[in-house]
Amino acid sequence: MTPVAPVTPVAFPPAFLWGAATSAYQIEGAVREDGRTPSIWDTFSHTPGKTAGGETGDIAVDHYHRYRDDVALMADLGLSAYRFSISWSRVQPTGRGPAVQVGLDFYRRLVDELLAKGIKPAVTLYHWDLPQELEDAGGWPERDTAYRFAEYAQIVGEALGDRVENWITLNEPWCSAFLGYASGVHAPGRTDPVASLRAAHHLNLAHGLGTSALRSVMPARNTVAISLNSSVVRPLSPTQADLAAVRKIDDLANGIFHGPILRGAYPETLLAATRSLTDWSYVQDGDLTAIHQPLDALGLNYYTPTLVSAADETVRGPRTDGHGASEHSPWPGADDVAFHQTPGERTEMGWTIDPTGLHDLIMRYTKDAPGLPLYITENGAAYDDKPDPDGRVHDPERVAYLHGHLSAVRRAIADGADVRGYFLWSLLDNFEWAYGYEKRFGAVYVDYATQVRTPKSSALWYARAARTGTLPD
Ligand code: NOJ
Repeated sequence: MTPVAPVTPVAFPPAFLWGAATSAYQIEGAVREDGRTPSIWDTFSHTPGKTAGGETGDIAVDHYHRYRDDVALMADLGLSAYRFSISWSRVQPTGRGPAVQVGLDFYRRLVDELLAKGIKPAVTLYHWDLPQELEDAGGWPERDTAYRFAEYAQIVGEALGDRVENWITLNEPWCSAFLGYASGVHAPGRTDPVASLRAAHHLNLAHGLGTSALRSVMPARNTVAISLNSSVVRPLSPTQADLAAVRKIDDLANGIFHGPILRGAYPETLLAATRSLTDWSYVQDGDLTAIHQPLDALGLNYYTPTLVSAADETVRGPRTDGHGASEHSPWPGADDVAFHQTPGERTEMGWTIDPTGLHDLIMRYTKDAPGLPLYITENGAAYDDKPDPDGRVHDPERVAYLHGHLSAVRRAIADGADVRGYFLWSLLDNFEWAYGYEKRFGAVYVDYATQVRTPKSSALWYARAARTGTLPD
């Protein structure tokens, strides 16, 4: 008999969450309202030369004033979940001390609106917008920032823990540490490799202390997770030297976070590779226990894989690691590694489209974190979308991207992975950090002059997927 190739089932599990994601600074605007003070992203975006066209999040997509309409839009699209972040400096303008009630009230109204429409809120406490006062006091390289985060987590947990079940402590701490403090392409724009490693540790500590703080004030049914931009790192060739390059970047991208968080230890290979920069003496007794908290789920953000080799004369040159142009590397201690463009079609960010990377990533964590439910907390693509003369926005490339990546998720579930939901990045076109507004990631188009929202064809496609639990052709 001819063997029959296994067929991936088409339907997603009935309880699968079909979500979309955003973050506060990228969508809210209203940066000076109701007592909010500047975060590091306000300062950075207002510093000449830091963002494309000098663009800022001052107005963004005005979600602070339009949140009701935006939630109505989500309901129209049939979303079952929405991941958003809280602006720390709306809640604690100086980054410490008592909360500002109006700041918390905005999020309470948003959550109530979501719940009224049957949409599950997933709250990210920190999506890169540190209150400027805390950066002035030293920022993430300083230990105190982790304690400040725990205090903030407790305040928000107390305020919203009765109505929000799903919590995420930090979004992509790799970007906060290494783009913020090593390559400097993100706020606060520092370029100090040692500070970036200290920042990574204090972000881990913030996650651990924040998790405990949340649990101390919230009902036990609530879940706590972290969203990591875990990279799928591949070798250019299977040589020992290229495999060593993979090890190094995998440690700096992944192990530096999931080591302490999931296993309670930094990888020995990471400590050895960074020894000439730092002695890691800022890791104090008890820190690893504090960081290694039981988690309820793990959030994975995935866009594109990373291709590396050992650096030699032939491959040295401009870095193509996809994280913005800087003379300063975001990879401390990895000057002997070269980054390459993965072959294949790319999105507007220049990121190669590779859904197998998402499957590989999910299977890796299925093996490395057995029993831990997974969520894809971000996945999506930027394209140069423009309305037709009839006002409609057709984005077949994004439909293909979503189809490919959701198929990879479905395949991983068929292969035994426990993936509970998918959050498309992003609900709306928004402020893409150093790239400003030019890179459009939204399933919904935003005309920035009028703030009119128009669902793109990908939004309509995704709505059908959410409604039927299968992927339309
Ligand atoms: C990751 C970040 O969490 C999000 O803020 C960003 O817009 C997307 N990736 C796209 O770059």
